[in-house]
Amino acid sequence: MENEFAGLTAIITGAGSGIGLEVAKGLKQRGVNVFGFDINQGDMGFVATFIKCDIGDASSVDAAFAEFNKVSNKLDVLVNNAGIGSLTTVEKETDEVWHKVLNVNVVGTARVSRLAIPLLRQSKHAAIVNTASVAAIDGIPNRAAYSASKGAILALTLAMATDHLPDGIRVNAVNPGTTDTPWVKRLLDQADNAKVAKIALEARQPMGRLVSPSEIANAIIFLASPAQASITGTSLNIDGGLHSLRIPK
Ligand SMILES: NC(=O)c1ccc[n+]([C@@H]2O[C@H](COP(=O)([O-])OP(=O)(O)OC[C@H]3O[C@@H](n4cnc5c(N)ncnc54)[C@H](O)[C@@H]3O)[C@@H](O)[C@H]2O)c1
Repeated sequence: MENEFAGLTAIITGAGSGIGLEVAKGLKQRGVNVFGFDINQGDMGFVATFIKCDIGDASSVDAAFAEFNKVSNKLDVLVNNAGIGSLTTVEKETDEVWHKVLNVNVVGTARVSRLAIPLLRQSKHAAIVNTASVAAIDGIPNRAAYSASKGAILALTLAMATDHLPDGIRVNAVNPGTTDTPWVKRLLDQADNAKVAKIALEARQPMGRLVSPSEIANAIIFLASPAQASITGTSLNIDGGLHSLRIPK
């Protein structure tokens, strides 16, 4: 079978850990030249070329693309995956945290895309995949700023897909449910009882288990694939049925 990814080049933000790392592994296995833009190299080791980049800082993003442009003359796939969380209600959230979360999650996605789009325009297989969340489409407690940022990413996905349709750049998003990554481990570590908190998270999933990072990565890779040349402006839920199913208890 033909490998439609062979010879492509990708940038993945947040490739040092969790979902981004699994995307990097999956694309690397398919013959993609993978660059990981992250504040930390994390575990990307031999999987991706690490380029230090804080997507929350315009000068850091500029410097990262300057470095990327020295070693690559093309870009086919951008995965805007890096993000940060915040755990509280709108009543308690501070302006400082609102600005930080929106700056990294929303403006960060736009900032990286701004510099990637001129490169993607040159590709015959250009695709952007943004990582949103079920928090964008379902009310989840104590996630006010985070949910708003992920809702903005879905709206941005549609705006970008429309604006860059004539450029041949497809733009889609994924909405992961609770996924078993270091992110969730950090969350559980903050709970009074991590074991009980994990059982509660699993129980919230209709399938009774967390989503695996490779399941999210497979969906991102599907949306990024040149074989899916007609998919744009879509978001895919990978959430164990959380969004759509109502299971009587
Ligand atoms: N894990 C979940 O349950 C879940 C659910 C829905 C959505 N998501 C989204 O998936 C994405 C990845 O999450 P994960 O669970 O893999 O988390 P993770 O903590 O395992 O990995 C996040 C990566 O992003 C990097 N990063 C953080 N801030 C950055 C910045 N300013 N610039 C560049 N890199 C930065 C980190 O260094 C890390 O390598 C996030 O956007 C998150 O909102 C996760």
